[in-house]
Amino acid sequence: MDKLVITGGRPLSGEVTISGAKNAALPILCACLLTPEPLTLTHVPALNDIGTMLKLLVQMGVKVERDADTVRLDASGLNNSVAPYEMVKTMRASILVLGPLVARCGEASVSLPGGCAIGARPVDQHIKGLQAMGAEVTVEHGYVHAKVGRLKGARLFTDMVTVTGTENLMMAACLADGVTLIENAAREPEVVDLAKCLIAMGAKISGAGTDVIRIEGVTDLHGATHRIMPDRIEAGTYLCAAAATGSTVTLNGISSGYLDAVVDKLMDAGCDIVSEKTAEREFIRITAQAKLKAVSIRTAPYPGFPTDMQAQFMAINCIAEGSAVMRETIFENRFMHAVELQRLGANIKIDGNTAFVTGVKRLEGATVMATDLRASASLVIAGLVAEGETHIERIYHLDRGYEQLEAKLMALGAQVRREKA
Ligand code: EPZ
Repeated sequence: MDKLVITGGRPLSGEVTISGAKNAALPILCACLLTPEPLTLTHVPALNDIGTMLKLLVQMGVKVERDADTVRLDASGLNNSVAPYEMVKTMRASILVLGPLVARCGEASVSLPGGCAIGARPVDQHIKGLQAMGAEVTVEHGYVHAKVGRLKGARLFTDMVTVTGTENLMMAACLADGVTLIENAAREPEVVDLAKCLIAMGAKISGAGTDVIRIEGVTDLHGATHRIMPDRIEAGTYLCAAAATGSTVTLNGISSGYLDAVVDKLMDAGCDIVSEKTAEREFIRITAQAKLKAVSIRTAPYPGFPTDMQAQFMAINCIAEGSAVMRETIFENRFMHAVELQRLGANIKIDGNTAFVTGVKRLEGATVMATDLRASASLVIAGLVAEGETHIERIYHLDRGYEQLEAKLMALGAQVRREKA
């Protein structure tokens, strides 16, 4: 397995261009299943997770053409509504084919994703919503089997805010008979981007971005062209890298609108951040002082502080002045980066879903192991700060969600190389 070798202790500088959002592209790729007409997507990031999703769609009979960051999908030949365990187990987001398949084909058999490093990750809300829309759903031998003549519009209420649950049910409702209300809906920008794409395909959706989404079912959707929104978590990760290393860095292709909670906390830590969005360009520029103040955070559904940024921000708190309390409210096991950061000299105590971080003078390079996507990003940031060399093993986790990571970091002046195992 490949590893990254980072020689830390030096500031970054320069500009980096933010790629398309992984967590918008994944549901939007699945939206192609809702129509026999071609769906063309631009600004699609080149990530392992995207490749996995495309493989899953191809085995269902979808024709896929890729040209740089443009992907053209044609589901006119959809001939298989099964998402097999071998493919789903490598990427939980595969569950996002469930709603569109039931809506288009009246049936689907999708392997349960199973848990992952950060938690059990059940999909009971996805199932409950489809049942409320009239689907007969059973879970047998590790597969979700769903069957229905045509879904019926219904009033859905999810027990907790679920991003892919909202996305699955919104896609299913597009072709249902009647009106569906999703209450307690996820408000993430990626949900809004999916809704924009579905509306371009002829769906009748209002309220995306609020906690009540209204979908008036139609009989058919048509093809469309859609540009994937920029990746706010990739952007937040580079902002944290700049903050931790006391750097001035400009991110192109994104403005801070989707990152208010993260920007607020970075400013509390002592960073200056400016952002602009005009017809010509959009950017965020961060200027960080050498020593930051530790800042407490509590993760929450959007617009709260994103759980996908908790690990990266912990790396900042490890070398900031003072102590911080970091509470993870979304997933039950999302502190695995803490023990690895401790190997670099960090002072972190974990108590249940709370981490107590006290800043230390410096981190020392060491060998650490990536455990999940955002934990790996946290280790990269810590490696950029630590004195000497940090070897990060199992970086396939990083390749799932960060496009051209080394190239982008090297363009910012970081000393980083990938070593084949
Ligand atoms: C999405 O995962 C993202 N993935 C995650 O990003 C992100 O961390 C998460 O939302 C929260 O923002 C994609 O969009 C592909 P949830 P998702 O359903 O939809 C519980 C990354 O790093 N829950 O919003 O799977 C669940 O266990 C990834 O890019 C149920 O109990 O998360 C969790 O505790 C990691 N039953 C909470 O809700 C359900 O049916 C929120 O999960 C669904 C969820």
